[in-house]
Amino acid sequence: MTRRVAILISGGGSNMLALLRDMAAGDHPALPVLVASNDPKAAGLAKAAALGVATAAVDHRPYGGDRAAFEAALLQPILEAGADLVCLAGFMRVLTPGFVDRFAGRMLNIHPSLLPLYPGLHTHRRALEAGDAEAGCTVHEVTPVLDDGPILGQARVPILAGDTAETLAARVLVQEHRLYPAVLRRFAAGDRTPLFL
Ligand code: GRF
Repeated sequence: MTRRVAILISGGGSNMLALLRDMAAGDHPALPVLVASNDPKAAGLAKAAALGVATAAVDHRPYGGDRAAFEAALLQPILEAGADLVCLAGFMRVLTPGFVDRFAGRMLNIHPSLLPLYPGLHTHRRALEAGDAEAGCTVHEVTPVLDDGPILGQARVPILAGDTAETLAARVLVQEHRLYPAVLRRFAAGDRTPLFL
């Protein structure tokens, strides 16, 4: 059964584009049915539309601190698209357990660190400050605990002398665009075996 994927973004959506490109390459167990953002100005929305993928924008700001109300609005286009798999890709809103539990076992996220190292923000700066020899990215199943679900894949990069958070982020992002599509292909085919690139 072909899985129907909704991708949630907040900005440029480079990971979203990598996922769309791979699903368009054919022989893929999933198809994209929606790209949605919490920011109506997210540049990724126009890029997805240009590729023929349905889009939706649900601005989180009018909901203030009422996360449940924002998520109830965000859920509508996801359900209308008939999505049965959700990929968070540069999505910068913390989701409540109520939303996460609705997609238990059916929601993925990519995080720019080698989890369980550095959940949360500023991962590259933290790795540099710790003097780590390597960094990387992780695709994991989303659970109510932030950046904590079962690991589905990781890719590693060396940290080089003179690296800044920006140079390291750029090196990791290249691997994100390899890892996330590869993990989605396996996950959509029912294979949860972790992939280490
Ligand atoms: C990336 O570092 C990703 O790991 C994190 O958000 C950043 C931007 O992602 N989740 P994208 O370019 O919007 O996909």
